[in-house]
Amino acid sequence: MRPNNAISLPAIDDKVMRKQAWQTPPASHVTGKARERLLARIKQLLDEKNAVLVAHYYTDEDLQKLADDTGGCVSDSLEMARFGHAHPAKTIVVAGVRFMGETAKILNPEKRVLMPALEAECSLDLSCPADAFSAACDAHSDRTVVVYANTSAQVKARADWVVTSSIATKVVQHLYERGEKILWAPDRYLGAYVQEVTGADMLLWQGSCIVHDEFKASELRKLMDKHPEAAVLVHPESPQDVIALADIVGSTTEIIKAAQTLPNPVFIVATDRGIFYKMQQAAPGKTFIEAPTGGIAASCGSCAHCPWMAMNGLQNLAEALENDGPEHEIHVDPEVGLQAMKAVKRMLDFAEQLKLNATGKANIASPA
Ligand code: 13P
Ligand code: SF4
Repeated sequence: MRPNNAISLPAIDDKVMRKQAWQTPPASHVTGKARERLLARIKQLLDEKNAVLVAHYYTDEDLQKLADDTGGCVSDSLEMARFGHAHPAKTIVVAGVRFMGETAKILNPEKRVLMPALEAECSLDLSCPADAFSAACDAHSDRTVVVYANTSAQVKARADWVVTSSIATKVVQHLYERGEKILWAPDRYLGAYVQEVTGADMLLWQGSCIVHDEFKASELRKLMDKHPEAAVLVHPESPQDVIALADIVGSTTEIIKAAQTLPNPVFIVATDRGIFYKMQQAAPGKTFIEAPTGGIAASCGSCAHCPWMAMNGLQNLAEALENDGPEHEIHVDPEVGLQAMKAVKRMLDFAEQLKLNATGKANIASPA
């Protein structure tokens, strides 16, 4: 049953989008001498082009290691935005999905932003076309518009606030305490979770992540019974009944931290399995198990791994740096970018205030 705070989705063929997404071919995997040569070439190009590599935790291990080894960063989407903005490099190479590259461009219009695969989408972004979203904003003009970072530049330009999963609850709590009602887009699960934690009045867009949507509570319960010593770590893009079983609900960075700080020897993890690379580094000796998906009944070919994140590889990363061509460069309309920057900067300033403010309450001015 649709909750009464849900905004009807525009006519998007969700089934077709999911099917096509799971058929997306991953980047070709290079091994042996060819891999060594590519790694050396990319390092040289990063240097020559005054470029820095910013990678998400869900990308291939080779890319994560390369970002670490070359002074770039591997992180969640909030830190990717913050790091790229603060870094002096003239070119930012974003290994992730398109909204991450667009966010980098919004924050750094004067810099060149390259991506290994511009076609790397995100189902949340696809579920929220700018025109339909804009109409919903017009219809609920009494509400503060808060959008998840997993959206296009145009959608961000229409928002008062952009948030990522690591800061969403804190921002909405802050707005709720100021008496504001929220229009939230696009992730219905993260939205419902934030609403439950904060008690805020939120109208929810009905998008979802095709990867996290596949985690199944019934299967998870069975796995928990088999591993009573395990802690369950869940990304808030997961369905509500999966979130309800979690010991920790958090962003990718928070999930990695939990593996380090909790005493459990075993962790069941409901997010993209690319994160295991950093979890193993952060908590060596501990055991990490993928949370179960729908198995043979699932619509995905490779559950628990984002098909769009998998489009990033060494080969297309080298091409992006080598060619400087339009097939790898992110462009955002300057006017749209300027407008979107206000909402993104508001988030970064809020995050900075939270860091500075020991009480956890930031003193942020109302959005204009
Ligand atoms: P994080 O901000 O937690 O890294 O999430 C981004 C994302 O797309 C997860 O699916
Ligand atoms: Fe989007 Fe889900 Fe992929 Fe994250 S994992 S980029 S939310 S489709």
